[in-house]
Amino acid sequence: MAPGKIILFGEHAVVYGQPAIAVPLPAVCAQAVARPAVSGAGLRIIAANLGRTIAVSPEPKENDHALVVAARLLLDRLGVPIPDCQITLSSTIPIASGLGSGAAATTALLRALSRAVGHDLNLETLNGLVYEVEKLYHGTPSGIDNTVIVYGMPVYFVKGQTVETFRVGSPLHLVVADSGVASPTYLAVSDVRVLYEQNPDTVGRIFERIGAIARAAREAIGQGDAEVLGGLMQENHALLRELTVSSSLLDDLASAAERAGAYGAKVSGGGRGGNLIALAPPDAAPAVARALEAAGAKRAIQTILA
Ligand code: PMV
Repeated sequence: MAPGKIILFGEHAVVYGQPAIAVPLPAVCAQAVARPAVSGAGLRIIAANLGRTIAVSPEPKENDHALVVAARLLLDRLGVPIPDCQITLSSTIPIASGLGSGAAATTALLRALSRAVGHDLNLETLNGLVYEVEKLYHGTPSGIDNTVIVYGMPVYFVKGQTVETFRVGSPLHLVVADSGVASPTYLAVSDVRVLYEQNPDTVGRIFERIGAIARAAREAIGQGDAEVLGGLMQENHALLRELTVSSSLLDDLASAAERAGAYGAKVSGGGRGGNLIALAPPDAAPAVARALEAAGAKRAIQTILA
């Protein structure tokens, strides 16, 4: 099993070395179940959501599916041959919506496959392998998705540094709203790169401000100060808008959440579509969820970060 994830602060700037904060979202998850197959059957991955069965052939091919690449990477790392095994992979995480569907599918697959061949991977090794596969999906991923999903804990993440977790001072009531608009992260990331290359000073300053917000948010989470966090979310959302990764729907959803009593709301993940998160006082969370759905969200999930 591997949970979905949400990024609370720092997306996009994290690709450029700024800190970011992400937490698991166990309300949605990917699951993989391995069953032994008859001798000579080889390895087959049944990707239930894609309605496809993918065979892992002994020789790599140029257009191998990312799941096949993932399986092969793992078997090579362990130095074991392709087993006779069938792995059924299913997921409740919407694709291309900023909830980590790709990293969670890879994580669940590699966990099931490593057990099927008699190995229990440590978290660091698993994280490294999932990151390799993330590069196929994203191009230049920061590594935050695989890290929060593999470790299954809230993380304060800085690219290339040791994973740090943090304390939550008092429970935070979050509402995660799916805009229903699929938006591949790699496109948003590459557009932000173009923007950065065109205006390195201005965009570099935006990244730095987002980094400062993530550092302040870590303190506020530790102190359980939801009002301060809400303000930081609003500020982070405005900066993401400057990076062109919001949309009129996401801006409308943020306003609707705030009108319904949220402390703040922001794009979460790659943006353009995908998800918006709102932080609400405990008794206002259901009203915020309803307001988000009324304003056009496909669904709103309430979750508590404790
Ligand atoms: O769209 P998501 O949830 O996979 O998040 C991507 C986060 C980015 O910072 C935009 C990219 C990255 O690799 O960190």
